[in-house]
Amino acid sequence: MKLQPVRGTRDIFGEEALLFLEIQSQFAYWAQIHDFQPIETPIFEFSQVFKRSLGDETDIVNKEMYTFADRSGDSLTLRPEGTASVARAILSNSMLRDLPLKLYYSGPMFRHERPQKGRYRQFQQFGVELIGVDSPIADIEVLSCAWSFFKACSLDSKVQLEINSLGDQESRDNYRTQLVQYFNTCKNQLSEESQKRLLSNPLRILDSKEAQDQEWIQKAPPVQQALNNQSLAFFESVLKGLTDLNIPFVVNPRLVRGLDYYNHCVFEFTTTHLGSQNAVLSGGRYNNLVEALGGPSTPGVGWAAGTDRLALLLEKPQNQSQTVAIITTSPDVSGEALILLTQLRQHGIPSQLIYSGNVSKQLKKADKRHCSHALLVGQVELTSDTFNLKNLKTGQQSQLNKESLIKELRVFYGR
Ligand code: HAM
Repeated sequence: MKLQPVRGTRDIFGEEALLFLEIQSQFAYWAQIHDFQPIETPIFEFSQVFKRSLGDETDIVNKEMYTFADRSGDSLTLRPEGTASVARAILSNSMLRDLPLKLYYSGPMFRHERPQKGRYRQFQQFGVELIGVDSPIADIEVLSCAWSFFKACSLDSKVQLEINSLGDQESRDNYRTQLVQYFNTCKNQLSEESQKRLLSNPLRILDSKEAQDQEWIQKAPPVQQALNNQSLAFFESVLKGLTDLNIPFVVNPRLVRGLDYYNHCVFEFTTTHLGSQNAVLSGGRYNNLVEALGGPSTPGVGWAAGTDRLALLLEKPQNQSQTVAIITTSPDVSGEALILLTQLRQHGIPSQLIYSGNVSKQLKKADKRHCSHALLVGQVELTSDTFNLKNLKTGQQSQLNKESLIKELRVFYGR
């Protein structure tokens, strides 16, 4: 039997692994430009961290968490997302003394969902959280960071920012009442799942993908109707900020998001290139999250992006990592070849040893591995301090001593 990875998980290697690294480094660059600081939290937490923050009635907590008892009997959960962990970390490390906090993270998350293209049970997220600022400027700032990232990856033409407001707690409660009243009038026509949600989490009916719910969702009262004046003013300020910064958006009054901790702005960057798993970056404001975990009332806003989905949108890079190949003419010089290799690397020249084969086989391998140069190392070369350096792209050969060959390769590699 061939061993397979667990359903919904996969190995990432080759061009895709390079692309993941590129996406993560592009993200870290833009997060730092926006003055976010890195944070790493554990991959598992006490289950309560997620139950208290994401909401007992959410799909994630109800159906998707990888929860287990460890050997001491504690209930632990593999993190399904990063925001709750960051909020917990802030409290555990008394970081609230120095607000605002601007943090960024990336790493694997775990959800027991039905696997399909762009949806996995272990997937990578990266995200930012801005904690301690209740002004709309913070929402605009995190969205501007996301937009800079998309532009730098040339994805700005492939994604669309959808934004909505759930308002403050009063507006949200108001909307809930309006939705319950409305959906009760068509209750029997709704899918079984939506009928259940009507009792537990009526906002989530708006998220339903069931065909029979769509007609009723379209006719549901829009959230804007339930927003009080402060909430409307907040939302307008965010939209104005986006317009001022030339960040295109559409207001989607049906956007509610699947986590309970949100209020005010919620948003998703979606794409038409990925089928049903169309959200590549999502987030919003969560002014009650820190309090839900036992801390003082502290506003926050942030987002997380799915690296796996972004990788599906981006061109795979060619493996262009060039190296100098050291070709040995006999096994007795491998010790000296290793010393030379180390010297090249210490000068920042990427290099590799072609481990086996005669000279012509080693040259063929170097060519196949897209090496920039072949450097011939034998007893004669070492004794005379004269090496043959062949540029494998142009075919040009030169005879150089060690010092000049290092100089030449440093120039080639810009080191
Ligand atoms: P989320 O919408 O659950 O939000 O996930 C954020 C992003 O992670 C999604 O837009 C999607 O790209 C990716 N994603 C989610 N589930 C999967 C999956 N099963 N497979 C592949 N990719 C997936 C959050 O997690 C919030 N913590 C975002 C946030 C941060 N809100 C405020 N701050």
